[in-house]
Amino acid sequence: MDLTSKIILVTGGGSGIGLELSRQLVALGNSVIICGRDAGRLAEAGNLTGAQAIAGDVTIAEDQERILSEIEAQHGRLDLLINNAGIFLAYDFNTDPDTLQKIEREIAINGTAPLTLTRRALPLLAKSEQPGVLFIGSGIAFVASPGTPVYSGTKALIHHCAQTLRHQLRPLGVTVFEALPPVVDTDMAKALKSGNFKKMKPTDVVRDIISGLRRNQTEMLLGQSRQIKWMSRIAPAFLFRQFAKTEFH
Ligand SMILES: NC(=O)c1ccc[n+]([C@@H]2O[C@H](COP(=O)([O-])OP(=O)(O)OC[C@H]3O[C@@H](n4cnc5c(N)ncnc54)[C@H](OP(=O)(O)O)[C@@H]3O)[C@@H](O)[C@H]2O)c1
Repeated sequence: MDLTSKIILVTGGGSGIGLELSRQLVALGNSVIICGRDAGRLAEAGNLTGAQAIAGDVTIAEDQERILSEIEAQHGRLDLLINNAGIFLAYDFNTDPDTLQKIEREIAINGTAPLTLTRRALPLLAKSEQPGVLFIGSGIAFVASPGTPVYSGTKALIHHCAQTLRHQLRPLGVTVFEALPPVVDTDMAKALKSGNFKKMKPTDVVRDIISGLRRNQTEMLLGQSRQIKWMSRIAPAFLFRQFAKTEFH
């Protein structure tokens, strides 16, 4: 995929991987639009990177529609939708007082929103000559993570849906990409002690994603995620035990 003069929407572009994606994509000469719930942080990110900030919550249908309408009004098309926004919740399913609300929230943000936003964006993507959708998944899609009862399941969902949508949207000319990073050094992973995992730098993650997009590599296994996928096939019980040792601050 050519990555110059494209109209690109990055959800969750106010911090972490999304912020770095918008920084590197703007630097390549693309028009980048970022969204997120914290309007102040988003505006700051916009000033820092040169991306256009549109505040909004990707779990709210009206916000999804408003963001896409603003892009249509200003740019007339969307070339690449990057479903990056996400949350990571570590808690005990039995004893946490907010388990019920956490289950709903994590599935809504990590699972439902990227899919509904993709569906709503299809008419605008159809106006592009080379449309694409990129899901930011995770290497944890390949192993259940005992400390995070729902997170790894949401990433497994995205991994499966990325494959089915790649098949279903191909006749429309839409290329579906998925990037699966390992642990990355962002706010999200702050509570995670490094232990067995080396935290990858957001700059390196994004460099690899951009290189993958340019080569039309539809499934990008980044850093240790390649090993996780491979281990999940040959030694799943061992891999599960390694993840069970993960400590949180
Ligand atoms: N960090 C890791 O170790 C790691 C590893 C593999 C995959 N990933 C994935 O990479 C993606 C980015 O994570 P990150 O590490 O960059 O975390 P991050 O720094 O916490 O960024 C997440 C972003 O998502 C936004 N967001 C959350 N809920 C939203 C909502 N409902 N609507 C709109 N925006 C929302 C947040 O902004 P607001 O709070 O302002 O809305 C924030 O800017 C996630 O999908 C994550 O699962 C991360």
